Amino acid sequence: MLNGIGNMAWLGAATLFILSLRGLSHPASARRGNLYGVTGMVIAVLATLLVTGGASLQIALIAALVGGALGAILARRVEMTQMPQLVAVLHSFVGLAATLIAFANFLSPQAAMSGVERAIHDTEIYVGAFIGTVTFSGSIVAFLKLQGTVSGKPLVLPARHLLNAVVLGACVVIGYRFVSAPDGSDALYALIVMCVLAAALGVHLVMAIGGADMPVVVSMLNSYSGWAAAATGFMLDNDLLVTTGALVGSSGAILSYIMCRAMNRSFVSVVLGGFGTVSATASATPEGEVVATTVDEVGSLLRDAQEVVIVPGYGMAVAQAQGTISEITRRLRALGIRVRFGIHPVAGRLPGHMNVLLAEAKVPYDIVLEMDEINEDFTSTDVVLVIGANDIVNPGAQEDAGSPIAGMPVLEVWKARTVVVSKRSMATGYAGVDNPLFYKDNTRMLFGDAKGSVDALLRQLEAA
Ligand code: TAP
Repeated sequence: MLNGIGNMAWLGAATLFILSLRGLSHPASARRGNLYGVTGMVIAVLATLLVTGGASLQIALIAALVGGALGAILARRVEMTQMPQLVAVLHSFVGLAATLIAFANFLSPQAAMSGVERAIHDTEIYVGAFIGTVTFSGSIVAFLKLQGTVSGKPLVLPARHLLNAVVLGACVVIGYRFVSAPDGSDALYALIVMCVLAAALGVHLVMAIGGADMPVVVSMLNSYSGWAAAATGFMLDNDLLVTTGALVGSSGAILSYIMCRAMNRSFVSVVLGGFGTVSATASATPEGEVVATTVDEVGSLLRDAQEVVIVPGYGMAVAQAQGTISEITRRLRALGIRVRFGIHPVAGRLPGHMNVLLAEAKVPYDIVLEMDEINEDFTSTDVVLVIGANDIVNPGAQEDAGSPIAGMPVLEVWKARTVVVSKRSMATGYAGVDNPLFYKDNTRMLFGDAKGSVDALLRQLEAA
């Protein structure tokens, strides 16, 4: 009876997760999608506790309380700009959990099995532990790289692909030994050796990826953590875990693929590492003069314009300038000026970062356009306001084959009549490359913290 209720609840939860993913695919339905996801998770946890019952119920409740409290504290403390690090740590937890469950399942099996049934179950344990360990160690390295503790430069070992292939091959051979081992201690030994190799593989795979490609790596690890969960689901014979894991695994893989396309990277190359690296040709030093501007000058440029495009980047998120930018947009639109936003797929530090901030600041969705939708319109734009963005508006990506971001599609803001860039200094962005945009004849640099600059600009527009 309890199992029947549990299965029904799991089916409902899985359906809510699918609806959640669908909702999250558009800003207008994202809130609803989130609600579906939360409801699905509450149902899943309650149903699991109900089915589990007994002494393990108490343990599960204590674990849920401790984990929930830690999660709540972390979520309150973490800045939006530190999200990728948080996500990387969370993926490492999923990986570690999958590995620990695999060991627990191996050491104290729920049911006695033999023959083919045992071989299949052992394979599930082995695959779960393998994906879990790669995800765990890879996510820890991703966290350290994003945090800046480990350099963002790719570690390019000689014959690294061969090295990866050898380690992978060794894991397959050890896997055969694990499944066919006559006694438990041989099998345990094989499992431990594989985990050591898998951990090294995870570290090497992520160490080989350059800083500029880290967004794709975080999303790849998201996908790995999903597959680890799915493997655990097979191992525990838990349909909900299989479904949820497969949803996370496939959506993470699709997102990684979309991001690779947006950055003009080959999916396979990013997965195998060694990308986002500085190429053999040295990157060119930009030529030209940097022209600084003032809030008054930007105010008159905007008032005289008919077409304005605002391009937000990571600096807008750091400065929390989105609220004032929303006010400026309202003000300019009231003056009859057409204002739109151009969003690069990897603007900021996580997918959809800018869309979330602009939606929170109540910028209407219909004037927030994707890169492909707005790129052709820059030639007919009077003023582009670049707020705390750098790499995503770097013409070097198109013009300089030696640039680490060569080939990455960018917002072609320099084609507009005037470009105003709000940032604090001439410092580089995430990829650590100079930006020739700042030296172009039609670019004006509005130096200062983005929030201070746009606050002053709003006052200026209101006073005029
Ligand atoms: P970035 O290239 O990182 O440039 C941000 C700029 O903002 C910096 O040059 C900085 O210059 C400026 N800035 C920082 N704080 C500021 C403040 N308080 N006020 C004004 N300006 C400030 O950002 P982007 O153009 O958005 O590009 C995103 C980069 O992050 C890409 O390279 C992308 O690959 C990478 N990345 C993206 C993701 C995802 S999924 N979106 C995840 C990880 C990494 P100053 O110091 O001179 O002010």
